[in-house]
Amino acid sequence: SRYEREFFLNVVNGNGVISWGAVDTSRSDEGRDELIGFVTTRMIAAKDSEIEDLFRYNNSHKDLTLLYILTLGVVDSYRNLGIASSLVREVIKHAASVSNCRGVYLHVISYNQPAINFYKKMLFKLVRRLPMFYYIRGQHYDSYLFVYYVNGGRTPCSPLEIVTSFVVDFRAFLKMLVGKIWRKEEKSIPRWSRCKESTTLLTSQNNNSNNKRIIAGEDSRCHV
Ligand SMILES: CC(C)(COP(=O)(O)OP(=O)(O)OC[C@H]1O[C@@H](n2cnc3c(N)ncnc32)[C@H](O)[C@@H]1OP(=O)(O)O)[C@@H](O)C(=O)NCCC(=O)NCCS
Repeated sequence: SRYEREFFLNVVNGNGVISWGAVDTSRSDEGRDELIGFVTTRMIAAKDSEIEDLFRYNNSHKDLTLLYILTLGVVDSYRNLGIASSLVREVIKHAASVSNCRGVYLHVISYNQPAINFYKKMLFKLVRRLPMFYYIRGQHYDSYLFVYYVNGGRTPCSPLEIVTSFVVDFRAFLKMLVGKIWRKEEKSIPRWSRCKESTTLLTSQNNNSNNKRIIAGEDSRCHV
C-alpha cells in the first residue's frame, strides 16, 4: 500500500470511520476471503464540512451530520460488475439510517471519468467544481464535489432559502476577504503545505474549503 501510515491507521481506526468491503468467497485461500472492493466513510458535522452553506436554510443545521466518502475502489478485474454500486448503496442506506444525517458527499478529481459517470449513475448531484483542488506531481487539477441527499436534505430551492444561502455566502466571502487582508503579511507558510498525502486510492477528508490536496503517489487514476 502506498498510503501514508498515519492516514491508513486513521482511516481504519479513526473516530467516526466506517468501512464496507466486498469479498470474493470463491477465491478463498485457506479460509481467507479475497477483498475485491472497499469503501471508507467518515461521519462529520455538517457545520464543519465545506458544504455547510447547503444546509444553512435549515434551522437545525447545527446538529446535522454528513457522511463523507474517503475512499472507494474496486480491483481492476472486478470492475463494471456492480460492486461499487452495491458498496455505495450500503453507504447511502447507513446514512439514511442516521436520523440527523442529511447526505453522503465526496470529491472526484476532474479527469476520473469512470468515477464521475459512476456517481452520476448513482444519482449523486454535482454541486461544486473546485478549481485547482488537487496538486499532483507539479500539476493542478480541479475537483468535483458530489452529494447524495438523504432524510430530506436537499439543495436550497425556495426563494427565501436561496436568499438566506446567498447572505450566508456573502458574509463568508467578506470574512475570507478580511482574513486575507489581515494575513497579507504572513507569507511564511507555503500555499500547498497544509495538507499532504500520498495515496493510490484517494484522499482524506478535511473540513476547510480552502484546503487543497497534495498527492505524491505515482498512480493518480483513482482519487476521489
Ligand atoms: C469508479 C469505480 C469505483 C467503479 O467501480 P465498479 O465496481 O466498476 O462500478 P459499478 O460496476 O458498480 O458501476 C458501473 C458504472 O460506473 C461507471 N463506470 C465504471 N467504469 C467506467 C469506465 N471505465 N468508463 C466510464 N464509466 C465507467 C458507469 O456509469 C457504469 O455504469 P454502466 O455499466 O451502466 O455504464 C472503479 O472504476 C474504481 O475502483 N476506480 C479506481 C478508484 C476510483 O477511481 N475510485 C473512485 C474515486 S472516488
